[in-house]
Amino acid sequence: MIILGFETSCDETAAALVNTSTKTILAEKVYSQYNEHREYGGVVPEIASRAHLERLPILVDALFKNAGITLKDVDAIAATTGPGLVGALLMGATYAKTLALAINKPFLPINHLAGHALSPLLTEERLNFPYLLLQISGGHCQFEWVESPTCSQTLGATIDDAVGECFDKVGKMLGLEHPYGPALERLAEEGNDTAFSLPIPQTPKPGDFSFSGLKTHMRKLISKHDNYANLAASFQHTVATYLAQQTEKMIKQQTAHAVVIAGGVAGNKTIRGHLRKVCEASGATLYAPPLKYCTDNATMIAWAAGLIYAKENWPQNSMNSLVRPRWPLAELYTDGV
Ligand code: KG4
Ligand code: ZN
Repeated sequence: MIILGFETSCDETAAALVNTSTKTILAEKVYSQYNEHREYGGVVPEIASRAHLERLPILVDALFKNAGITLKDVDAIAATTGPGLVGALLMGATYAKTLALAINKPFLPINHLAGHALSPLLTEERLNFPYLLLQISGGHCQFEWVESPTCSQTLGATIDDAVGECFDKVGKMLGLEHPYGPALERLAEEGNDTAFSLPIPQTPKPGDFSFSGLKTHMRKLISKHDNYANLAASFQHTVATYLAQQTEKMIKQQTAHAVVIAGGVAGNKTIRGHLRKVCEASGATLYAPPLKYCTDNATMIAWAAGLIYAKENWPQNSMNSLVRPRWPLAELYTDGV
């Protein structure tokens, strides 16, 4: 089954062609809108929507050229329909629906978080349900217990900022350029991670997170000290330690044998290292997607569509489906409306 997938929930315009039956990626394209947003110091929703609209036809042309197939060879078309920026989601979803109508093939609405959650199943042969998922991105920081492609239970989540958001805000305070997370990681490589001792956040419920206190603490330190590399390294080390400690608690609580990390922050090497250690010590295996599948991409959307929608169960009324700026993973459904 060949699925054409689109991802446009934020500032990455992405399209991919995946044969989900044979687990083959026929072609994949990601355009990151860094240049469009850099001068504003963050993602501007209206600019993101326009950039998606401009880039989508160019990406699709290149995609089919690379894959050596045509639109007629596609069995279904999937797009992220939430959570994310409404205008940005609408661009990808409407583009995908139009193509689906043109070739009279099903349109498959996909939850962005499900894309991240299921992506390691594409690359990791030994991974099986159920698994503990740590979703760490610009909009999310949460634990999920993933039991099947359509069944997931939220065990805990951030009560304030997402971890990627915290990286972005601290990166901005350190005078770095957008995208802040990778820039902060590069700066931290030059610093001493024990130069500053930062408090590990505390929350009453195990599995929950809080990052606002850490952010405030960093603001105070940055106003008093000028060794930014040491500040970045100490911050990153504290976040990695915190994520690892919370993960250890959840592995015990769920008696988990497999831990999956997903989302942009999962690309951070220090965080990966800390999580790998804690998993090894707890008798669980850590599954981390290759770096290019940690950040937003359309391969994960096409792949998730293949897992969520069996061919005999194509959604009937998905052309009427709406985009959802908020869409918890626990509310996954397959009828698309
Ligand atoms: O999953 P993602 O690409 O987009 C969504 O938020 O859905 O994640 C983007 C977030 C941003 O906050 C970015 O700063 C952060 O992930 N990020 C990183 C790294 N790469 C991306 N944070 C820390 N270290 C990184 N290497
Ligand atoms: Zn994402």
